[in-house]
Amino acid sequence: MSNLNPEITRRRTFAIISHPDAGKTTLTEKLLLFGGQIQVAGAVKSNKIKKTATSDWMEIEKQRGISVTTSVMEFDYDGYKVNILDTPGHQDFAEDTFRTLTAVDSAIIVVDSAKGVEAQTRKLMTVCRMRKTPVIIFVNKMDREGRDPFDLLDELEEELQIKVRPLSWPINQGQRFKGVYNLYEQRLNLYAADKQHITENVEIDIACEELENHIGAEDAQKLRDDLELVSGVYDDFDVNTYLSADVAPVFFGSALNNFGVKELLDCFVRIAPYPRAVVAEERTVNPEESKFTGFIFKITANIDPNHRSCIAFCKICSGRFLRNTPYLHVRQNKTLRFSSPTQFMAQRKSTIDEAWPGDIVGLPDNGIFKIGDTLTEGELLHFKGLPSFSPEMFKYIENADPMKTKQLNKGIEQLMDEGVAQMFTNQFNGRKIIGTVGQLQFEVIQYRLENEYGAKCRWEPIHLYKACWIDSDDPKELEKFKQRKYQYMAKDLEGRDVFLADSGYMLQMAQQDFEQIRFHFTSEF
Ligand code: G4P
Repeated sequence: MSNLNPEITRRRTFAIISHPDAGKTTLTEKLLLFGGQIQVAGAVKSNKIKKTATSDWMEIEKQRGISVTTSVMEFDYDGYKVNILDTPGHQDFAEDTFRTLTAVDSAIIVVDSAKGVEAQTRKLMTVCRMRKTPVIIFVNKMDREGRDPFDLLDELEEELQIKVRPLSWPINQGQRFKGVYNLYEQRLNLYAADKQHITENVEIDIACEELENHIGAEDAQKLRDDLELVSGVYDDFDVNTYLSADVAPVFFGSALNNFGVKELLDCFVRIAPYPRAVVAEERTVNPEESKFTGFIFKITANIDPNHRSCIAFCKICSGRFLRNTPYLHVRQNKTLRFSSPTQFMAQRKSTIDEAWPGDIVGLPDNGIFKIGDTLTEGELLHFKGLPSFSPEMFKYIENADPMKTKQLNKGIEQLMDEGVAQMFTNQFNGRKIIGTVGQLQFEVIQYRLENEYGAKCRWEPIHLYKACWIDSDDPKELEKFKQRKYQYMAKDLEGRDVFLADSGYMLQMAQQDFEQIRFHFTSEF
């Protein structure tokens, strides 16, 4: 560790994920407060609803009050460089969140203490498990009546399929919430409902009588009993089990009251992983390598509707990224130079001269990038790990204004490159099918085609259950399958074979009848 580059080892790039309303935005805001990025609590929150300052462009976002895009926030804290990748909470944009998770080295999961594990948390955790991303869990809203902490921990283990290890322990909850005992630092943090300030920390030996003075005899005894049970039930915390994604440390607090957040952050920067090696098709790329490599995991469009500019978000994987330096855009085999790469802070963005592994830089994009594109100093590398998931909703997309066919095609192409949804072309009738994870995405596509490309589209229903990618070691068998199912065969944008099953039964029968064929529900296999 000692001879590793400190610019790399001090970086912490992570995402905060949660079911909507668990408190992700509030927690993000408090972390930024500690990072000195914002001065007043409430800044991010109002930003989330109005968003007018930074993203006037997406009217839809304002109307619905949901955060559609993923933004990046960074700050320095205690010698560490923290990069938070924000993710849209709305489930219709889950695909966006999945992709963001490919660019992080760890994640913090926020859970509502009363609601426990909710649908979206479960789904996102599946992606973390797949990628072996280390996670820390923050149980939020302890100032409200919630579940019994032991029951909640059991539920977390069961539902998220990961072992948990509490690193702080709540003293009561709701009206009677008195604080938490920080097991990681062995300190008592006393709670005072205060949205702006940081509350008192007391270093205390929980065995001594002084504890009673702080929290009263009854709660003192309960805390001692609880902690005894904790050490009986859970193994001692071993940071390696967290880093290997086998154990999730758990903190309790109240983001709204800024309680338990500093403890979370202090522990997080110490134990969370610094940028890890990234697997490319050709080889594994180590962050320590001297040459720059990076990949595009996110593209946001039209920040200013008057200038048709996009920003492509590039995660630096190795080496040092420099401004005004020629880099190879591998897919296009083109050399590009970026004169104004940007980094992001709560509400500002600024031009940077250099960036290190773990950092995210925003590159101006006029349609040259696609999700998953690789940039290097010349090496032909293709980063893996940006899977497309089988969509859950499907519609035929039709041109509603024949005078604008060109604009429509261009718009669809760019929106698909941005990863807004997936498109399949039915091999049987040549019609284009758009697949999404939620209804809202169809609305966003229609809105953006009209507002950004001047094109009109119309949706027509198609009854589909799943689209799955197929392949086989036996080319003859594959051909036979494609012929037999020719009405249900499509190609994705990469030209890969996709089977469109119209019911679970049909899919099951196909799987039974063609044992040599592999059916994949993500595009990466
Ligand atoms: P999200 O990004 O995960 O969707 O959640 P967000 O932070 O927006 O929080 C959802 C709601 O929960 C907000 O209330 C927020 O104030 C509240 N909240 C967050 N943390 C805590 C906490 O520790 N304790 C309590 N009691 N509430 C918390 P809202 O009514 O939806 O919004 P607002 O009117 O407060 O802005």
